[in-house]
Amino acid sequence: MCGLVGYIGNNAVEQTLLDGLKNLEYRGYDSAGIALNDNQNIDVFKAKGKLNNLTEVLSNRPKPAKNSMLGIGHIRWATHGKATTENAHPHLSNDGKLVLVHNGIIENYQQLRHELEAAGFVFHSQTDTETAVHAIDREYKKSQSLEQAVTAGIKLLEGAFAFCIMHKDEPDKIIAVRKNAPLIIGLGENENYIASDIPAIIGKVKNIIHLNDCELAIVEKNKVTVKSLDGQILNKEIEAIGFNPEVISKNGYKHFMLKEINEQPVIIRRMAQAHLPESGLPVCWGSKGCMLDLNRIKNISIIACGTSLHAAMYAKTLWEDWLQIPVHVEAASEYIYRANITNANSLVIGISQSGETADTITAVKQAKEKGAQILILTNREDSSIVRYADCTVPLNAGIEVSVAATKSYTAQLAALYWVGLYFAEQNKSLSASLLASLKQDLLELPAKMEEILSNQQAVQSLADKLKNFKDMVYIGRGINLTCAMEGALKLKEISYINANGYAAGELKHGPIALLDEQMPVMAVLGPGVTFAKMISNCEEAKARNAFVAAVLSEKAAVKESFFDAELRVPETNETTFPLLANIQLQLLAYYVADALGREVDQPRNLAKSVTVE
Ligand code: G6P
Repeated sequence: MCGLVGYIGNNAVEQTLLDGLKNLEYRGYDSAGIALNDNQNIDVFKAKGKLNNLTEVLSNRPKPAKNSMLGIGHIRWATHGKATTENAHPHLSNDGKLVLVHNGIIENYQQLRHELEAAGFVFHSQTDTETAVHAIDREYKKSQSLEQAVTAGIKLLEGAFAFCIMHKDEPDKIIAVRKNAPLIIGLGENENYIASDIPAIIGKVKNIIHLNDCELAIVEKNKVTVKSLDGQILNKEIEAIGFNPEVISKNGYKHFMLKEINEQPVIIRRMAQAHLPESGLPVCWGSKGCMLDLNRIKNISIIACGTSLHAAMYAKTLWEDWLQIPVHVEAASEYIYRANITNANSLVIGISQSGETADTITAVKQAKEKGAQILILTNREDSSIVRYADCTVPLNAGIEVSVAATKSYTAQLAALYWVGLYFAEQNKSLSASLLASLKQDLLELPAKMEEILSNQQAVQSLADKLKNFKDMVYIGRGINLTCAMEGALKLKEISYINANGYAAGELKHGPIALLDEQMPVMAVLGPGVTFAKMISNCEEAKARNAFVAAVLSEKAAVKESFFDAELRVPETNETTFPLLANIQLQLLAYYVADALGREVDQPRNLAKSVTVE
């Protein structure tokens, strides 16, 4: 979602901020801005649209008389107020002295705005953020201290926020403060950084401090002081950045999405080796061990959003079979607004690539308050959601830059697979021989993924056939239904072709009315009990003149030319087939979008992590 950076030090401030924002671009945004403080003036520059527009605004201005010493920057994903230059951050106080950038949402902004307007403050934007500037400025007028003003001002704010704040009269510092939105401080030599996410400072510093909720950092050139909101100085742990700059380079690929699709075998091999040392040995949870009381678990709820929700649906089918425990799956945004039956006997699993999705965090927090045990699957062990975890399963897929999730999804499926096997092993719900063969299936997956990735001709030629259709239907059954839904989501996210995933058996209850030669069907036909029924559903689609393509196993027997196009994957078990089929569908979405000239890595209107409810 929005991204923010702050910098104080001897390097070129403007370029440092732009570099940071560039590395946050992947989060999705619609305007950008920076504020520079040269010890005399605060200058704000903003532009609607891509970061290049801001760079252009900056290069067209007269050369500044003095070098800046510090600055803050922001890329915005509009929530309150349209994507306009006025609504872009940074926002300035009426006297032009106090300036801030903000991530999150100030929920009581209407009431505050009303109050501040009545007190004479003039608003120049439609954002919730501007209320924070004036509220803090009002406090500054009383205390003449930025630290005190921020401490008092943010106590008036409800909702989620991460701020970087500067004041013209205190040019030796930037104040950073957070509640329910991520914020880190990057520690350099004679320079310090603030960022909403690690990519903004990757390669610039080696060490960071994670700010927690209601902590405030006074960031000076040679010093960082972190305090609680009641003024106590906190002794914060200094952590090393766990990523090298290569993780945010395309490594020769045209897009991050293609690079990330191609990384999948390595990620799954690493995960399989870590948790399934051999098919005959018990599943190994990892160095921290499983901290859950498994005897207490009578029901499981898996809560997630978007692609992570599709991973949750895969786990439901798998686990109800393996564990014989009811597994409920729900979109986090739905779970939080109803009286659900979560209690101390529930295991609630939050799945979130970013660990920053506001809906998922709120859902997990609610479940924890109801006494449930919490397991978190995330690609970011340093993320906000982990605070609520009794136990965390890190995906270790590396930073995912493309907005459309690919490698993190496959890692989620694989992680849910081995965690399911672990539970089954603990509660003895599967025979030893079945467990061993299921483990072996996962161990063999990486090589099979490599085989798919080494021959992309069939998928490229199918993409070429499909790229000019306006709509598309994906169908699947059983464990492959989520694969169909995720395939459709991927295509619509990055190509803007309207695509929907349906349970194949439901086709005849409505969606079949859509089918004709203009509505291609992509069928996901895994091995197992649903195969024959899927063939019948494809017959139904063919009878309506639809172009029918399928992703299916290498040896799956179908009449010659039955399908208009086939994407084959190596033979595997019913339960692991979705992890292979999914790669073909990711590639299909990618090649269609690329052929259409879409901005594959940064599709319109989408954000990588949605930090607002
Ligand atoms: C956004 C992204 C999706 C992602 C969803 C959930 O909508 O665009 O790709 O699946 O958020 O994100 P999370 O980080 O919680 O998995």
